[in-house]
Order: sequence, then structure tokens, then C-alpha cells
Amino acid sequence: MKIILLGPPGAGKGTQAKILAKELNLPHISTGELLRQNVSEGTDLGREAKGYMNKGLLVPDDLIKEMLVQRFAKPDVRAGFILDGYPRNINQAQTLDQILGQLKMGIDMVIDLKTSESVIVQRLSGRLVCSVCGLNFHIKNMPPKKPMTCDACGGKLYQRSDDREETIKKRLAVYLKESSGLIKYYQETKKLYTLSGDEDAQVVLAKIIQLVEKHNDSLKV
Ligand code: AP5
Repeated sequence: MKIILLGPPGAGKGTQAKILAKELNLPHISTGELLRQNVSEGTDLGREAKGYMNKGLLVPDDLIKEMLVQRFAKPDVRAGFILDGYPRNINQAQTLDQILGQLKMGIDMVIDLKTSESVIVQRLSGRLVCSVCGLNFHIKNMPPKKPMTCDACGGKLYQRSDDREETIKKRLAVYLKESSGLIKYYQETKKLYTLSGDEDAQVVLAKIIQLVEKHNDSLKV
């Protein structure tokens, strides 16, 4: 399965992608995580990207493209993948088509998690992320068993630097500006499915799995 998860910041793309990747035994490719890794390692890309990320802006397409080409050169993507945070605009969608075309691959499903603004702000202002394994928690919605400690690996939890109110608003505005064209692009491919991201994480997960199973069944007919 080659799946793209779309949705605004805080829709739950990362949360769902991590569980799905485990369930389906596929790599989870998050451009946000790859960028944060570059920032923390102080690479040239990380140094260039940091300013954009802290302002809530998109990192320029050509920088992201290079990073993605490198990621797709790894053999694990051959079995499929869960892509989270890419594409964010039509140019990136076309770039993805080119990268996949060269690998003789195509997208199976694009799942758009439609999420309301009040939910987004509540989720992002309370998000905690594990500094070691990247697992997401939330102060109220999904609290860790031990304060500021990851349930899965014991790593220290932190708040993302772009989860400040002003930056959240900017990220949302950028998403709203770019997303309608992107949604139209995937509507035309007939691979787009829309779910509510407002619902409980378990409910959203069950609905995604249902869609994946339906897709797999349709291939057997
Ligand atoms: P990125 O890391 O991709 O951030 P984002 O798209 O803004 O999305 P988030 O990670 O904030 O939200 P999410 O949907 O994954 O929600 P999550 O599961 O964490 O990108 C960061 C930055 O990098 C961008 O702003 C940009 O600068 C740059 N960038 C990245 N990709 C780029 C690209 N392609 N091009 C250019 N620039 C790029 O959940 C949020 C919280 O809610 C968590 O606390 C979670 O526990 C909780 N939660 C999740 N689901 C539920 C639920 N159903 N019910 C209750 N709580 C929930």
C-alpha cells in the first residue's frame, strides 16, 4: 500500500501514520520529522529549513524535493509507505508523481483528515513529542503514564517549537491557502477519501483500516 495522509496541522496525520505503519509493516515517511532530524543534527538543510519552520512557513519545494528523493532511494519504500506531510501543494504533488514514476510506483490512496480549527488549536497547544522515538502524546487527550516521559521508550517528552499559538495560526493559514488545489488534484485521480479528523483517534484509525481493507478487497475481485 502506498498511502498519503493529508490534513491540517494537528489533524492527527503523525499519530495515525505511526500506528498504521506498524499495523501494515510499512515505513512511515514524515517530511516534518525528516526536517526536524536535520535541524537537530545541524545539517545544511536543517540550518536552511529552521527559519521557515519556526515561522510556520513551508520550506522551499526544491529543498524538500532533494530530501524526499534521498528517502525514496532507500529500498524499504518498495513494499509501500505511509506518507505524512507531503505533498503540501500542487507542485509537490507533481514532484511526487515524478519520483514515484521513476520507481514505477503509484499512489493507492490519499486520505484527507478534515479537522476543525478549534480542535487543531486544542491539540497542538497540548502536544508533547518523544525526543527519542517521536511518539505523540497530549497533555489532556493522550497523557503519558509518567509525566513528560514516553510510554513506549522512556524518552523525555518536549513541546515542539512551532506549537506556539502565533505559529499554529500561521501554519493553519498556509495550509488553507494551499490545500484546496491539492484536494482538487487528488479528487481528479479518484483516489481521495475524506474522513473527519475531529473524532477520537481510535475511531479515526478504525475508519482508515476499513478503507484500506476495502481497497485491498477491490483488488482481489
Ligand atoms: P509537520 O511536522 O508535518 O507538521 P504539520 O503538518 O503542521 O502537522 P503536525 O505534525 O502539527 O500535525 P499532525 O497532523 O501530524 O498531528 P499529530 O498526529 O501530531 O511539519 C512541520 C513544519 O515542517 C511545517 O510547518 C513546514 O515548515 C515544514 N514542512 C514539513 N513538510 C513540508 C513540506 N512537504 N513542504 C514544505 N515544508 C514542510 O497530533 C497532534 C496532537 O493531537 C498530538 O498531541 C496527538 O496526541 C493529538 N491527537 C491526534 N489525533 C487525535 C485525536 N483523534 N483525538 C484527540 N487527540 C489527537
